[in-house]
Amino acid sequence: MSGQDEPAHGATVASRARRAVEPFLATAPPPSRLRRRHRVGYTPLAMKPTERPSLRRAHVMQPLRRVHVMHPLEHEPYLRSLLSPEVILTIGNGDPAPERTEILVGGRPSASVLDGATALRVLLIPYAGLPPETRELLLQRPHVAVHNLHHNAAAAAELAMALFLAAAKRVVPADRGLRHGDWTLRYEDTRELLLDGKTAVILGLGAVGARIARACAGLGMRVLGVRRHPDRIEADTPRWETRSPERLRELLPSASALFVTVPLTPSTRGWIGAEQLALLPADAVLVNVARGPIIDEGALYNALSEGAIGAAALDVWYCYPADEAARTGTYPSRFPLHDLDNVVLSPHRGGAFRHPELERARMEHLARSLNAAATGEPIPHRVDVVAGY
Ligand SMILES: NC(=O)c1ccc[n+]([C@@H]2O[C@H](COP(=O)([O-])OP(=O)(O)OC[C@H]3O[C@@H](n4cnc5c(N)ncnc54)[C@H](OP(=O)(O)O)[C@@H]3O)[C@@H](O)[C@H]2O)c1
Repeated sequence: MSGQDEPAHGATVASRARRAVEPFLATAPPPSRLRRRHRVGYTPLAMKPTERPSLRRAHVMQPLRRVHVMHPLEHEPYLRSLLSPEVILTIGNGDPAPERTEILVGGRPSASVLDGATALRVLLIPYAGLPPETRELLLQRPHVAVHNLHHNAAAAAELAMALFLAAAKRVVPADRGLRHGDWTLRYEDTRELLLDGKTAVILGLGAVGARIARACAGLGMRVLGVRRHPDRIEADTPRWETRSPERLRELLPSASALFVTVPLTPSTRGWIGAEQLALLPADAVLVNVARGPIIDEGALYNALSEGAIGAAALDVWYCYPADEAARTGTYPSRFPLHDLDNVVLSPHRGGAFRHPELERARMEHLARSLNAAATGEPIPHRVDVVAGY
């Protein structure tokens, strides 16, 4: 299982998808699929997000026990050891799910897989995020609720900080030089960024962003969070200064660090473009561990190559290897970002999806969700399919 990046997805597709779901948002008597969803206690999508505080812990009243995992699991025995006896688990190889499947575990099921499982009520995506093509299919199937796992948020935040510090302190060119006996960077102004007392703006204060916020505060930085619901308070998280997305422009001129940790949705695609990059200070460091297309690719290249911003640290990209053979020889952008010294490149490792500890953590989070569903308890981390996260 992996949380790979998604292909491009235009506004036309989003608006078509919106039109497709509109009949289900109307106040007229709901179609039978929607009524079935209400029977299991899901929050109606017609309510505004702010009126749905329980969205992420929506209640499944009716136990759901027939679970199909779309692809083989390396740690299947461990998962089985954690599941309660009520869960009936089948594991596939990308083939259609059994017709009586109630919970499907996978990120990118096809329309035929979704429709072949006629009892399907929940799609459990085993990582954070909703791929755009899956969102489009799910908008047309509102009787299927979507849930995420956030088991690797700490790993993603840790990598974000590693890349951030490497970019801010110009670690990569200094390392590269000294490997050849070259000490010159010690004697030059490398435009390295001093962090104490500076401002970090964090786009998205979710599972990943909130961890980055704590780390930046620990370095003596002022933290400003940008989130869709700036007034929302999470019980287990410190209260950061937060702003709504509309106010980003006024924050950018003071942002020495800009972290992108929002999901890729119709409203975040291309959010950071030439205009936003031009507002950043000339020594700012931009970090993206969310999804590549949230930042405009050409604008990013121009800003970095012209020195309009100081540096960037990028874990997520615009081009991915199409298959195993392409794992070497695939550049991650159509622009030569890889030629720039002020960019730290990382091949989408934030989720560390081959790490045994994290794969076991994924199984633990998955088991927790499946065990909850089997007894009719709330499944954590419900995704709002219309909003896209
Ligand atoms: N590099 C990797 O390997 C890796 C690993 C894990 C995750 N990720 C990526 O990181 C993303 C975030 O993960 P997460 O676990 O932190 O997700 P999350 O817990 O769902 O948090 C998402 C945050 O983004 C905010 N947000 C959503 N739409 C927004 C908008 N239009 N404007 C401003 N803020 C917006 C949300 O605001 P509210 O809370 O106010 O609604 C929330 O604070 C994932 O979707 C995934 O794409 C990458």
